[in-house]
Amino acid sequence: MPQREDIANHGAIVNLLTRTPADELYRQADRVRHDAVGDEVHLRGLIEFSNICRNDCMYCGIRRSNASVQRYRMSDDELVATARSAVALGFQTIVLQSGEDMHYNQQRMCHIIEQIKRMDVALTLSIGEREYADYQAFRQAGADRYLLRIETTDRDLYHRLNPGMSWERRHDCLLMIKELGYELGSGIMVGQPGQTVQSIADDLLYLKGIGIDMAGIGPFIPHPGTPLASEQGGTLELALRTMAVMRLLMPDINIPATTAMESLHPQGRIMALKAGANVVMPNVTEGEYRRLYELYPGKICVNDTPVHCRSCIALKIRSIGRSIGKGRGGHITHKNSLTQS
Ligand code: SAM
Ligand code: FES
Repeated sequence: MPQREDIANHGAIVNLLTRTPADELYRQADRVRHDAVGDEVHLRGLIEFSNICRNDCMYCGIRRSNASVQRYRMSDDELVATARSAVALGFQTIVLQSGEDMHYNQQRMCHIIEQIKRMDVALTLSIGEREYADYQAFRQAGADRYLLRIETTDRDLYHRLNPGMSWERRHDCLLMIKELGYELGSGIMVGQPGQTVQSIADDLLYLKGIGIDMAGIGPFIPHPGTPLASEQGGTLELALRTMAVMRLLMPDINIPATTAMESLHPQGRIMALKAGANVVMPNVTEGEYRRLYELYPGKICVNDTPVHCRSCIALKIRSIGRSIGKGRGGHITHKNSLTQS
């Protein structure tokens, strides 16, 4: 294993991703996580409030062209009520995620944000690419964090898999979000068709370079209703390795054990928590909507309730000797953080 200061180097990262024995890599990431951010696991309540999207990402189950999806969008009141129930369950961060659904315009989103912020929680948005004025208004309305994966830094791959979109535009969105003082979350999908470990190493260096506060890294899982239905998909091992290297590169950021990891293996999130992760985002969406927000097949917990999901993950976390985070769990060294408790 290279020393920590030698890790931010392309060749060393490729080695870690491909050659270092997995157990050794996970152990080191776990140690770095313990030393930098401690043993608490922060829970975020994830609300998937609309599966309507203007984009057509080739891998995504809710892409615009997938005509077999039954579409939904929550009303503003329904969304705020879902957040209220999640807060009552003890969540101190609410994450609002959706397709790029412009029904939720600036004014509507700001009104929703203001109502949720009155509940005295941290609020993360994951609603895709918007104009600067929107990001600014959401921030002023109280949004604390924003999650937008860059997906890959391989421009050709990005443009192949995200038709009609621009990698440069996505990159600019990340810079705007950062400039506005949000805690910035980004990340990649591992195992996209045509993605190489060389480009994953580039991605990790890019994420470090832009100074993210949170890294969401998950495997690509082919969806039958998309043009990539017959592709192989990413492996849990490569996704875990990538996440572990991210931890070595950025010891004190927040890293979730992603739902997609658990969709590939019943213990996927626990494996991730033992390999560098310190956050879990249980789904607090209610009823039918859980099933309809199908980014990939085999999504976990679609028939469960928010109460069940919270207690299930809490049990799992305690079973590995970790504790549930007591505060809002913001990035401990974020400069403009309004979210520390
Ligand atoms: N529209 C918002 C955006 O673009 O950031 C948020 C929703 S989007 C569905 C959230 C993430 O889901 C994407 O960034 C992508 O990495 C992931 N995703 C989409 N399809 C997937 C698939 N088939 N397998 C695994 N992850 C997928
Ligand atoms: Fe828009 Fe997936 S294509 S959320």
